[in-house]
Amino acid sequence: MSMENYEIPRHIAIIMDGNGRWAKKRMMPRTYGHAQGSKTVEKICEDAYRMGIEYLTVYAFSTENWQRPKEEVDTLMNLLRDYMKDCIKTSKKNNMRVRIIGDITKLDTDLQESIKKLEEASANNTGLKFQVALNYGGRDEILRAAKKFAVDYAANLSELDAVREADFENYLDTAGIPSPELLIRTSGEVRLSNYLLWQLAYAEFYFTDVLWPDFDKKELQKAIEYYNKRDRRFGGV
Ligand code: IPE
Ligand code: IPE
Ligand code: MG
Repeated sequence: MSMENYEIPRHIAIIMDGNGRWAKKRMMPRTYGHAQGSKTVEKICEDAYRMGIEYLTVYAFSTENWQRPKEEVDTLMNLLRDYMKDCIKTSKKNNMRVRIIGDITKLDTDLQESIKKLEEASANNTGLKFQVALNYGGRDEILRAAKKFAVDYAANLSELDAVREADFENYLDTAGIPSPELLIRTSGEVRLSNYLLWQLAYAEFYFTDVLWPDFDKKELQKAIEYYNKRDRRFGGV
């Protein structure tokens, strides 16, 4: 498929869903699906960048995912540990800038340190801007933003009547990052699961039955093809 005549979204957000079902279909433990899913992320980062996508934001672990069995949560955290370490090398190789969104203060301190190292090491890279949502919840993000704003307000740093949406956005984890034009969710579920509630206000939504470990460049192209068929009216006619 040639992408030549397509408008490429500047920012794509992905809910990477279906790892567990992918593994179950193969009579394997759910954790095997997560391991496979993390390989898919790496490939998609490279494909997205080659296609001209500037920003990619993926949902890796939600504020609700702590409710899963401890063994699964531990495996996911260990995969994320490995990912943060490996990614120092791959981000250098691919010139990729990595940022974590979500409340990382609730993560183990070693993982927090790996995250800081990765963010610092990749901060000046000029290729794909890659955001990983980790212990992320849209409502949690907005509430944390409101609290940070309140602290500034109490210190008289802002004039309440003059505060615009763009000013409030600076308190979100995604400060400085443009809103996604396209959201992709794999695995057939048609819901937001608390993802980027503020930022997706005017995104186009693409849902596919493909399970995340099976998602590839062709599937990404299909989503972009769908996006190009949409008529984005933004409340106009
Ligand atoms: C998505 O796959 C990955 C995470 C939520 C961490 P799931 O683990 O939700 O897989 P399914 O939805 O149970 O198949
Ligand atoms: C959303 O998937 C979170 C991530 C992909 C990290 P879930 O599988 O946790 O969402 P629900 O529970 O089906 O809504
Ligand atoms: Mg799921």
